[in-house]
Amino acid sequence: MSEGSPESSGPDLAQGIALEGLAAGIPVLGHVGDQAVLLVRRDADVLAVAATCTHYGGPLADGIVVGDTIRCPWHHACFSLRTGAVLRAPALDGLTRWRVEQRDGMAFVHEPLPAEPQPALKGAGLPGSVVIIGGGAAGNAAAECLRREGYAGSVALLSADEAPPCDRPNLSKDYLAGTAQEDWIPLRSPEFYAKHGIDLRLGTRVAAIEPGQRAVRLSDGSRLPYEALLLATGAESIRLAVPGADLPHARVLRTLADSRALIAGAAAAKRCVVIGASFIGLEVAASLRARGLAVHVVAPEARPMERVMGPAIGDMVRAIHEQHGVVFHLGATATAIDEASVTLSTGERIAADLVVVGIGVRPSTALAEQAGLAMDRGVLVDEFLQTSVPGIFAAGDIACWPDRRTGSPIRVEHWVVAERQGQVAARNMLGRRERFDAVPFFWSQHYDTTISYVGHAEQWDRIEIDGDPAARDCTASFWHGGKKLAVATAGRDRASLEAELAFERETAA
Ligand SMILES: Cc1cc2nc3c(=O)[nH]c(=O)nc-3n(C[C@H](O)[C@H](O)[C@H](O)COP(=O)(O)OP(=O)(O)OC[C@H]3O[C@@H](n4cnc5c(N)ncnc54)[C@H](O)[C@@H]3O)c2cc1C
Ligand code: FES
Repeated sequence: MSEGSPESSGPDLAQGIALEGLAAGIPVLGHVGDQAVLLVRRDADVLAVAATCTHYGGPLADGIVVGDTIRCPWHHACFSLRTGAVLRAPALDGLTRWRVEQRDGMAFVHEPLPAEPQPALKGAGLPGSVVIIGGGAAGNAAAECLRREGYAGSVALLSADEAPPCDRPNLSKDYLAGTAQEDWIPLRSPEFYAKHGIDLRLGTRVAAIEPGQRAVRLSDGSRLPYEALLLATGAESIRLAVPGADLPHARVLRTLADSRALIAGAAAAKRCVVIGASFIGLEVAASLRARGLAVHVVAPEARPMERVMGPAIGDMVRAIHEQHGVVFHLGATATAIDEASVTLSTGERIAADLVVVGIGVRPSTALAEQAGLAMDRGVLVDEFLQTSVPGIFAAGDIACWPDRRTGSPIRVEHWVVAERQGQVAARNMLGRRERFDAVPFFWSQHYDTTISYVGHAEQWDRIEIDGDPAARDCTASFWHGGKKLAVATAGRDRASLEAELAFERETAA
């Protein structure tokens, strides 16, 4: 969907709208010609921006206005209402803003305004060159952010992957289900990187970091110097250690190549066993059901996702999948895989001509360890995302950072967190000293139900449920020691945004 495509009902804003009908901070959806436009009154000003989120086309009119910004209800991107600029991932592009004229107690929306040009960043203290290891969520967001901030030095984005930075969450969802086009998957075109002077090197593995020389050594033996370095090497799928786990029809899912191989495997398969009732495993189950395969899910826990989401949401997720024909084998593990079946710890054998292992990931920390960086369940960083070695930053799935809400170091594996960390690390490489204090957010999609989760609760002593999980309309609040740590919602996008804001305000207080 394009940014301004007219889902719009509502008034024709070119004809004007009465100012007295515009409540402060409440977005009004209208249109100008065939473009959907959002109007927001802020004090004496009336601001107009495109009404559709540039990430996946979320309806911004259903989002929330916070100060001079608007947040998208679907995955919490944030945009400036004054400039249209994107302020928070996962959106990577800003919104078109429109000129508004106030006259005779009315607001009239005229033509779109050009984006404000970004002046080149100058000054002492800027690194002469930046090297980013990892062409994933964090690395790509960092490279883009450096340019958006006006950084004019060299930026090298090194990725072991042969594929360009891609929309990884989509690999288990619409892309795998066959409902997303191939061209939605790369985050940017090759022309984008060329235009912005980002030296994207694909199929380029870094073999070692040499902090003393401020250089990285590539697997072909060549060296690349840096003045500032970002480590964003992400994570790798954990392999199953059972007989048959290396058979060609037993697969994991991390990369675009993995997803393509799964699609090819699914075309020739009839029955799939998914090992692991994780987010990715269950999203794979949903996508393969959409492709008509029989799907069985095997996992040791009593309920899918219970460890992260608790029993009520776990039961909801199970019911959603069962309604779509998925068969669960819970309280069981896989003990062997052969060409035609998977054997379980219960002795049961399930026929399978495709097996997907979704038992979690391991952060890719070998480079950091070899370089002697301080580690703690990942690469230890401070609140500015700097590692124990000055000039080296880390972001994304590998980074373990001090969570401001709990005071504990945490590491998460979320797309939006990785992108936001990439951006904060980029600004800090430019000397900003910006704290990373975003509240962690992730989403997971199961058929037409999306679960949104804000905060971070590794354990809890109480879960408060509001609403009806069976109706896919609920809020689960996770409490520990009298403190609300996280909120999961289904069918309540606005509640998720409000929970995020409440957590932010609590931290800022
Ligand atoms: C199928 C799937 C679905 C997901 N869905 C969701 C979701 O719905 N919501 C959500 O919040 N999160 C989701 N995630 C998690 C999310 O994608 C990750 O948290 C995010 O990609 C982490 O970003 P990153 O930049 O840290 O690492 P990555 O995106 O994994 O990127 C790491 C990059 O580093 C490169 N690299 C590694 N080692 C080297 C080296 N030595 N030299 C050079 N390059 C190297 C890799 O090739 C890769 O390009 C999903 C993940 C997967 C796999
Ligand atoms: S659609 Fe708006 S953040 Fe994803």
